[in-house]
Amino acid sequence: MKKVGVAILGLGVVGGGTYEILTKNREFYQKTQNVDISVECVLELNRERALKLGVPEEKIMSNIAEVICNPDVNIVVEVIGGIDAAREFVLAALNAGKTVVTSNKELFCKYSHELERAAKRQNAGLYFEASCVGGVPIIRTLLDGLQANHITSMMGIINGTTNFILTKMSNEGISYEEALKEAQALGYAESNPVADVEGFDAAYKLSILSSLAFHTKVPFSKVFREGITGVTREMIADGKELGYCLKLLAIGKQTDAGIEVRVHPTFVRTGHPLAAVNDSFNAVYLTGDAVGEVMLYGRGAGALPTGSAIVSDVIYAATHSEIRYSTFKNTANAEKDVRFPSDFSSAYYLRIKVSDKTGVLAKIAALFAKYNISIVEMLQKGEGETASVTLITHETRELAIRNAVSKINALEVASVESVLRVVS
Ligand code: HSE
Repeated sequence: MKKVGVAILGLGVVGGGTYEILTKNREFYQKTQNVDISVECVLELNRERALKLGVPEEKIMSNIAEVICNPDVNIVVEVIGGIDAAREFVLAALNAGKTVVTSNKELFCKYSHELERAAKRQNAGLYFEASCVGGVPIIRTLLDGLQANHITSMMGIINGTTNFILTKMSNEGISYEEALKEAQALGYAESNPVADVEGFDAAYKLSILSSLAFHTKVPFSKVFREGITGVTREMIADGKELGYCLKLLAIGKQTDAGIEVRVHPTFVRTGHPLAAVNDSFNAVYLTGDAVGEVMLYGRGAGALPTGSAIVSDVIYAATHSEIRYSTFKNTANAEKDVRFPSDFSSAYYLRIKVSDKTGVLAKIAALFAKYNISIVEMLQKGEGETASVTLITHETRELAIRNAVSKINALEVASVESVLRVVS
């Protein structure tokens, strides 16, 4: 039976889960995959943590050089996260001809060109299933399950922390700050939550997934990004009243104008499959020209779900002699002829505070008409001298909405409190 040795760099949550799966299921993989995968060593400075997980003392390394020069290590699993040390260690492993499996979305998103170049030069593998949507096998689905298709669009809830926060706000009517505190207490959100709540994590993943889906480099810098820190209880309550729930959506679309890539809070019509994705669950909803619509759903984070994706890559690398690299033109920047339009088409929700006087709505309606914006539905609620008008538009252009909003804000009698994009 083929023998394959693995080194795990970092025994944090995901590294620990990976170690547990590989050791617990070793015999199972011998039987089902006809390969004997052993963990040869781990790189972990916190020896106590490694010992607690059951790693034998002699397999705990504190120096990357000890890992790289171990001839029994064929595959290096990088689960350290961040850029600096991870990039250095991954390049060192690839340059030594070791195959690398990584869960590091930021590293792969920003440096895939450099890593893939090193891998190809040494005829080493480079696998990254765990970098996007944890245990949900979205990358293998794009590469091996849906490769017959032109993917035309992709919409995903690809960050569990923000989905947890938005679900809590919706179910319990609590504020963003209260929901964030709960997410932190439960270990979903970091003490510094910026990467999740400002949409960076989702944007890294969208850059990787849309590069694969559309077979061209989609750099992180081209991803439009808005986080959830401005989401209020009022927005969520308005959405409920109008039949929508709020999700941080990552959207990738191939249109005649180019590739749209954006991450932003979005109202999703109740009844859409993505509206039912709650708590810390993730889902990706894809449309292909042959298959039509496909949705994958599951856990996007956590020790065992993300470990599942890593071990899947380890088994793939261990059982395929032909190395598979990414399917897009892997360069630092976008290819010259690919366009990323900043204007796009969407439906919108607006909440406008108005003075409750005759003629105010007529002024707003005139501005909508000027920018060719058509209204689907509208609610008005009085609050003494002022009123709140909430409305949903038909599909229109982002630039038209921005222009209309700035003109409404210039009126003395109205100001726009919130604008959200809407998926019906
Ligand atoms: N922090 C991410 C999330 C998981 O909340 O989904 C890792 O990307």
